[in-house]
Amino acid sequence: MKIFVYPGSFDPITNGHLDIIERGASLCDKLIVAVLQNSAKKSSTTKDQRVDMIQKCVNHIPNVEVKTFDGLTVDFAKQNGATTILRGLRAVTDFEYELQMAFLNRQMNEQIDTCFLMASQRYSFLSSSLIRDIASYHGKIDDFVPKCIIEDVYRIYDKTGGNI
Ligand code: COA
Repeated sequence: MKIFVYPGSFDPITNGHLDIIERGASLCDKLIVAVLQNSAKKSSTTKDQRVDMIQKCVNHIPNVEVKTFDGLTVDFAKQNGATTILRGLRAVTDFEYELQMAFLNRQMNEQIDTCFLMASQRYSFLSSSLIRDIASYHGKIDDFVPKCIIEDVYRIYDKTGGNI
């Protein structure tokens, strides 16, 4: 069974992430979306909140599971029988960081490879921090996150309480 792991902070999941999940799921038997912590990033949301939002967005894809993990991506992959880490590349600016992670992950466990998918052009400008920023001022996020989590995103990140 070919198992891929798609790790990330997903704070929150965006249409860009969902695009990678849908395309990645078609390349393997099981895709595990793993909510992990990037130690360089601070978050005001819990992993459970992020998992709930992801779960709502992937219900229509039967071979996708959502899990959380504290620790190294390669350890999570090994524990779950995965041989491939899936990552999306939005632009050249992602490349150096992703290359570094892919090299280090492979050095830590050479049984596990990284597979990159180019983000669809229409989502290549998206990032979770920009969504958080827009949502915090109750800006329009309809084009950026899946419809089923728009209310959650405002409830979690909107600092205006809808009063603008
Ligand atoms: N569409 C939209 N946005 C995308 C995207 C896509 N296809 N692909 C990446 N992004 C954005 C995210 O929204 C996020 O934006 P932000 O920085 O504004 O929040 C950014 O790109 C990167 O986020 P993400 O893909 O979630 O990665 P990350 O850098 O937050 O975390 C981990 C990367 C979790 C995979 C990495 O830190 C990790 O493996 N941690 C576990 C510990 C470990 O193993 N460390 C050693 C690594 S060598």
